[in-house]
Amino acid sequence: MPDNNGSAEGVSLSRYYNASQFRIDTWNELKNISHRLAHGGARDNDKNLARETLDQLAPTEMYWAFPGDYAFQQLYRLLDAGEFGTLARVVWRCVGGLMSGLYRRKHIDLGLGGEQIPAEPGEDLDTEEDRIRRRPYFEVLIVDDLTLAQQRQQRDELAKIRRNEDSFTYQPVFVPSFEDALIAVLFNHNIQAVVIRFDIRLHSKNRLPVLTRYLAQADCRDLDDIEAQNYGTTLAHVIGRVRPELDLYLVTCQSVEDVAGRIGDDCRRVFYNQEDFVELHLNILRGVDARYQTPFFTALKEYAKQPTGVFHALPISRGKSITKSNWIRDMGDFYGMNIFLAETSATSGGLDSLLEPHGPIKKAHELSARAFGSHRTFFATNGTSTCNKIVVQALVRPGDIVLVDRDCHKSHHYGMVLSGALVFYLDSYPLNEYSMYGAVPLREIKKGLLGLRRAGKLDRVKMLLLTNCTFDGIVYNVERVMEECLAIKPDLVFLWDEAWFGFARFGPTYRQRTAMYSAGVLRERMKSESYRQRYEAHAAELKDLDPDDDEALLSRRLIPDPDKARVRVYATQSTHKTLTALRQGSMIHIHDQDYKSKVEEAFHEAYMTHTSTSPNYQILASLDVGRRQVELEGFELVQKQVEMAMVLRQRITTHPLLSKYFTVLTVGHMIPAEYRESGIESYYDPDQGWNDIWDAWAGDEFCLDATRITLTVGATGLDGDTFKTEILMDKYGIQINKTSRNTVLFMTNIGTTRSSVAYLIEVLVKVAKELESRIEDMSGPERRVYDAKVKSLIEDLPPLPDFSRFHDAFRSAPMGDTREGNIRNAYFLAYDESFCEYLGLEDGSLDAAMEAGRDVVSATFITPYPPGFPILVPGQVASPEIIEFLRKLDVKEIHGYRPELGLRVFTEEALAAEIGKHRNAAA
Ligand SMILES: Cc1ncc(COP(=O)(O)O)c(C=O)c1O
Repeated sequence: MPDNNGSAEGVSLSRYYNASQFRIDTWNELKNISHRLAHGGARDNDKNLARETLDQLAPTEMYWAFPGDYAFQQLYRLLDAGEFGTLARVVWRCVGGLMSGLYRRKHIDLGLGGEQIPAEPGEDLDTEEDRIRRRPYFEVLIVDDLTLAQQRQQRDELAKIRRNEDSFTYQPVFVPSFEDALIAVLFNHNIQAVVIRFDIRLHSKNRLPVLTRYLAQADCRDLDDIEAQNYGTTLAHVIGRVRPELDLYLVTCQSVEDVAGRIGDDCRRVFYNQEDFVELHLNILRGVDARYQTPFFTALKEYAKQPTGVFHALPISRGKSITKSNWIRDMGDFYGMNIFLAETSATSGGLDSLLEPHGPIKKAHELSARAFGSHRTFFATNGTSTCNKIVVQALVRPGDIVLVDRDCHKSHHYGMVLSGALVFYLDSYPLNEYSMYGAVPLREIKKGLLGLRRAGKLDRVKMLLLTNCTFDGIVYNVERVMEECLAIKPDLVFLWDEAWFGFARFGPTYRQRTAMYSAGVLRERMKSESYRQRYEAHAAELKDLDPDDDEALLSRRLIPDPDKARVRVYATQSTHKTLTALRQGSMIHIHDQDYKSKVEEAFHEAYMTHTSTSPNYQILASLDVGRRQVELEGFELVQKQVEMAMVLRQRITTHPLLSKYFTVLTVGHMIPAEYRESGIESYYDPDQGWNDIWDAWAGDEFCLDATRITLTVGATGLDGDTFKTEILMDKYGIQINKTSRNTVLFMTNIGTTRSSVAYLIEVLVKVAKELESRIEDMSGPERRVYDAKVKSLIEDLPPLPDFSRFHDAFRSAPMGDTREGNIRNAYFLAYDESFCEYLGLEDGSLDAAMEAGRDVVSATFITPYPPGFPILVPGQVASPEIIEFLRKLDVKEIHGYRPELGLRVFTEEALAAEIGKHRNAAA
């Protein structure tokens, strides 16, 4: 066996984004070599190569239960003994088991220890072991410095106490040290429980960078400062941070009461000198079972089994209106009966009411709160569009000021109309070359708040609403934004629209940029004595500043007063967009210190306002099951999703033909350098391999969600929308849902496979080849047309306009000093036709009005697709830049704009009358 010093690490290893990819590829390499050795065609140094490959794999195998340490050592023995036939068969079976994941469901007989090796995996007889294995399988990490013999003994002890009635089955994995435990939990996604014993070492002997890179993710740099007696509790704490869903058990020889007092919530249980394996076994199973529970889904399944007579208004219930029909029976054939047996509006009989939950829905909410790290979670059956309106209505009263990114989803604009908020639109930084917006710089937000403070309006500011991540994958530094804003406005409420970010909780790098995690971190931090001291020093420093010097505050990192700041954070997530849930299944997550005292009643009313009295139970059940999935395999799925995205980025970037026509936009393209303190330019560099993204995600103002891949297509001579519909959808059946003028966005998700990535690359190569030959065959004039189109797509892009301003008729008094406006008044004023008129873009009437110095004020939302957000909202003055942008846009779909009529705007008389009303009210 090698000494695990990673001597095999060379240039080739930098190709691997993570150790899982490295492991699978290396096993496959071993399969090929051993096949050559066994079946002829071996090259001169294949035996050496086999040994080197085994040496490369050895450091990874200690972290997995399959094929296991014993089997792995046998591979060396078989190689040394020249038993190549057996070696090839054992390796073949290992690779088969690993690739298919069969080892999780079935005992794979490797034919070692004198047993026969069946030729095909499927030919094995169904053994008792197989029956046990068919239960959901996981692995338990045991952190203890044991000899191989001791490990085997413990494995046998645990195997002996398995019972037929156990709901799950598991295998132990042993690691000797603190660092190995961290590598294991970040590498081995099968691990569901960790038993930390007292006799552990600090450092790993492993030096393989693809593995030790995981240690940076766990972000614990000062390990040597930990006292030996605290290794266990500190390890529990760090694992609790990187994989909070795992069940941790601590075995100690110190006073259990003392240790229990120190570990807080990190561990499920502390055992004293644990030798009672039965107790440990039962606890491990119970822990996993707590995550496996799906109260509402289970209740619905039970309900579906019961015989019931239907005498209420739901003919589809129990499939009655379908099975009796002569004309729609194919609906029953297509969906199967279960969906109709579970169609009900019953709120009793084991079920529950979404509007007033007391039973399984309430329980499902609580389990989701645990999974997503919130204090409260509510399900919604009409998407995040509804969640956003619920939260805004619950918190915002007419006249409250809300700061919001102006390229937010339309549900927010409508939410503002409904709540009567004074909307303070914040501009995101533009990415003019790609015709898309980035996100709102923190400086802009602070500037807005400081301006409102100067205008004496801070007390009316209620909420900051931002989209994280944005459609294109720009991710905020959530914790920093909240911290600095609370320093200016200590009771500010945050609504983070995480429609696209539900999955983020389940990847350690991503998690730190989620609303709920950041709320928890801030809350804990502000409680500590060390923070208080830091704040006092900070406050003393601020005292010496000129109170009118906003620049000093803008350029400084501000921190809030722990005695004043309240952590009030809401997140809305389209669970259906990134996790397993039926369409429209969404969740609202809340961490609000003042929820009970200030919000509960209003939230209830807002929830009632927007929630159907006939919610779809299938959607609710899917949210419940989707939650179970992420608690048990979210880590694995997100890890694989990111891996697939990275592979896609790498393959396109390094393919000579693809890179001629397409560019994967990197962090450097999408985030200006001033917001990237880490200096990271791209996740993958063809010369240097993978960059470590941890530092960027830990500190940069913005980072890029790697799972969303923006590809420029301008060089094909097709705009994003045409490329999407005519090439990707119509020709190759590839669906995507966002484009800009010269880009298309590919999103990987938790269902993305290596084959789907391969198919996409295949399609892109075909497209590039077709284009290449089309260009070669072009006549001179055709070539000029093509070149002109490419130039217009790449170079002639209209600059994205900033938010102009609300017209004074819709500004709050005193008019003109800060930018918030009453969108609701403008929205409803436009209901009266006599207050509106049309000004044509083509007939010159709009230009004439603007040239005459008239404020042209939109009466509607004007939303071009793409980019998909309103470039004008009701009450907003149309600036020359906005009109120019509208003119230059060559998109087919512009909601709210009728080219034959022109822009719908307010008449000058209507605006004057509104201003008159303000004056009278002020007088
Ligand atoms: C940022 C954002 N928020 C909210 C929504 C609405 O979500 P849903 O489709 O779940 O209603 C979307 C939809 O695309 C979105 O992009």
